[in-house]
Amino acid sequence: MGDSITTEDRDRRVLELYDRLLEMEQRLIPTGLHIFGRAPNQDQLLALLQAVASFDRYESATWAGVNDAPSARALTDLVAEGLGLPAYVKLIEQTSKSEMAIRDREQVELIVQRSIAIYLEDPEDKGPERASAFLFDQATVEPAQSTRVFQTLDQIRKQLQTNTELDSLMSALTGAYIEPGPGADIVQNPAVLPTGRNTHAVNPYTVPSPLAIKRAVPVVDALLDRQRRATGGYPETMAMVLWGIDNIKTQGEAVAQALYLLGVTPRRDSLNRATDVEVIPLDVLGRPRIDVVMTVSGIFRDLFGSTMTLLDRAVHVVAALDEPADLNFVRRHVIHQTEETGMSIHDSALRVFSNAAGNYGTNVNFMVLDSQWDAGRELGDLFVKRKCFAYGRGQDGAAAQDLLERALARVEMTYQNIDSTEVGITDIDHYFEYLGGVSRAVENKTGTRPAVYLSDSTAPAAKVRSLEETLMLETRTKTLNPKWYQAMLTHGFSGVAEIEHHVTNTFGWSATTGAVDKWVYDEVAATFVLDEQMLDRLKELNPHAARSMVARLLEASGRQLWAADESMLERLRQAFESLEDTLEGVAV
Ligand code: BEZ
Ligand code: MG
Repeated sequence: MGDSITTEDRDRRVLELYDRLLEMEQRLIPTGLHIFGRAPNQDQLLALLQAVASFDRYESATWAGVNDAPSARALTDLVAEGLGLPAYVKLIEQTSKSEMAIRDREQVELIVQRSIAIYLEDPEDKGPERASAFLFDQATVEPAQSTRVFQTLDQIRKQLQTNTELDSLMSALTGAYIEPGPGADIVQNPAVLPTGRNTHAVNPYTVPSPLAIKRAVPVVDALLDRQRRATGGYPETMAMVLWGIDNIKTQGEAVAQALYLLGVTPRRDSLNRATDVEVIPLDVLGRPRIDVVMTVSGIFRDLFGSTMTLLDRAVHVVAALDEPADLNFVRRHVIHQTEETGMSIHDSALRVFSNAAGNYGTNVNFMVLDSQWDAGRELGDLFVKRKCFAYGRGQDGAAAQDLLERALARVEMTYQNIDSTEVGITDIDHYFEYLGGVSRAVENKTGTRPAVYLSDSTAPAAKVRSLEETLMLETRTKTLNPKWYQAMLTHGFSGVAEIEHHVTNTFGWSATTGAVDKWVYDEVAATFVLDEQMLDRLKELNPHAARSMVARLLEASGRQLWAADESMLERLRQAFESLEDTLEGVAV
């Protein structure tokens, strides 16, 4: 190559690339669909326990307070400490900048992984002891510390060996009682085990939990930092998607994030119910209060009525603070809107929106799935039509399209908290219908697409990624990852359908945000359609899904969402025709 780059530049780029590769390698990905009633195999168990052991554990404390000490510390931290290295989170942060940090991080991870493998070799007997001895030998981790970690891991391992999934299913089908249990990610809350129980919700008055409040701070800091690096300043207004199940699973992490963005924290009444907010003074907050437009799912609305009231109260309290406009964007916008329109302060400060009572979802996904749209604008309009009902005190889902549109017209960035390693933004159509939908609605109002971010609250170091980065990660670790799609294909019919869903959900992001790069479709086409052996396999296992996938690729091209090469399109058309023939029973 003609143009030269400096050695430092080259090294920096290589490190960044390496950081990306590590991120993909280490991501927990579902390998194959869950088979009802079946326990995880040894490899899956190792990966899961390693993830569990990478976090401080609060399992023995049923309700961990902000200042409670963990019942077991993260093995990654214990090993890093024992080796005299910087904290593990620091090592992760430094990976893209320092070769030394990479080596240190890998050493820590290797020791942790090896110790868990040793434990798993003989878990019932000498395993825990040998694993602790190994950790002491390799990294001077005190056995008193590591023993606690292995106690937690052992509990999880045992509970994973058995489950009542099939029996519970039969009970459900006969209308019999099913024992309840909490809903969460195993890594976040192992109390979900054993599986096969009836997920119960949380008491909404306890949300957000002290732990959720604590965890919200680094995520919000990372989010605002990310946007400041892109634009040079704080966003005045952002839109946030809140889901019900996610806030059950995390005991309100996303709720805590919204409150912290506004610069408040919940205040509990004498019954320990979060019914009011405490204002965090500006000098403690150290930044302006962000105006947050919350679009919440129908499930959230049904489960978290008192939380919607709390969020609405938070906005009203913040709007009423006597603070400078450049440090309190809520107040600035509420006053401006009131002066401009003559509407009440109360109406100007409505920020919690959902469906009309009894309705669920945005329908943006159905419109995309059924190809029932002409221009992307319709998708944003549909989102607004479905989600323009205001909630909060004295506001029981009144239609408020004008208010939602005014709020969205100010939005600079959109955001959703991702709480699970199991379900990502191309696994299901709901992420693009919500986050994609609201982003498109903002674009309809402002003329430009807002920055779109997702957090990864499952990572030990708070991590915020742009939509583009998240899509890249999902595509590389799932849709185009041979480990992922080969595992899916072992499920035959359902596996092919799963691959097709990923392609269609990726397309959903193109339709709503245009954030999908050309290479994604190029490689999907090359991997699943142009490879004849692969196409034959898909066709044999599930010709309907195979046809849908090829049709979706052609649709992406037809709608100018993918600038495909003509020769590739020609081959896609041929594949489509041949699949049609197969389905219609025409011999070829
Ligand atoms: C929810 O938990 O609120 C939710 C779940 C699936 C799709 C959309 C929302
Ligand atoms: Mg669904």
